[in-house]
Amino acid sequence: MNKFASKIFIDGGVADETRQAKDLLGYLSGQTTNPTLIAKNLAASMGGKKLSEEEALGQYKKIVQEINNIIPDGSISIQVFANRETKSDEMLVQARARNKWIPNASIKFPCIKEGLKAASQACREMPINITLAFSQAQATAVYEATKEAKFPVFISPFVGRLDDKGENGMDVVKNIIEMYRDLDHRVEVLTASIRNIDHILYALQLSSNIITIPFKVFKSWGEGGFREPEKEYQYPSSNLKPIPYDETIKLGRNWQEYDLSHPLTEAGVQRFWDDWMGVVQQ
Ligand code: E4P
Repeated sequence: MNKFASKIFIDGGVADETRQAKDLLGYLSGQTTNPTLIAKNLAASMGGKKLSEEEALGQYKKIVQEINNIIPDGSISIQVFANRETKSDEMLVQARARNKWIPNASIKFPCIKEGLKAASQACREMPINITLAFSQAQATAVYEATKEAKFPVFISPFVGRLDDKGENGMDVVKNIIEMYRDLDHRVEVLTASIRNIDHILYALQLSSNIITIPFKVFKSWGEGGFREPEKEYQYPSSNLKPIPYDETIKLGRNWQEYDLSHPLTEAGVQRFWDDWMGVVQQ
């Protein structure tokens, strides 16, 4: 079932939110999780008690399996744990293990060199989701790195984190969709880091393949009757600095040749790591 042009996912780490979101809309096509969201759940449910790495990972698996019971046909993104030192081989080991947790896992890799190296192999073995994407150049690299994919590939541009810095995050979604438009539709655009209903409306207007929505925003979208953009809808980008389409980025090169660097990708990798380590005994 799909009421919209885009598949609707919930972005969270608490199974009860998945249940409520599904009840509100009548269905859910999937869920994204990440180390911050799971750590938040664990910090609350464990009353501040730190866990061993094995226990924490066991809890992540348990949460994902609960979510899977609620949306057995939904795609559920599970993230590998990585910092700047983590090698692609280590990410692959984690990915293969997480992929066995549930039947419809999509394994998330960070949009950094080691992450894409791991993803270029993983995409032949399982569905994947490249997270922490902030630029058109990164999206080009993701497209080229996953040419051998035998399973769905998602790219997750994070709009809210760009908005937080005063840049128009939705421009990145628009640019990637435009760049991918005449290609083979192998890589699906998953609009992430949603902060408000206008992000949802514009992502629907752009026909983003997937939109992942935190429960709080999901709920207020539901309270407004799950509004869709009217024909004349115009995204209110207010004072956000535009991010123009870059005509100079050409597809067709080796993925390692594209510029993967972005300060928010770096900061995001570190934050996910720190948040996860915050619930694990050192
Ligand atoms: C997506 O997969 C991420 O979990 C998420 O959208 C991150 O959003 P944030 O910027 O609100 O942390």
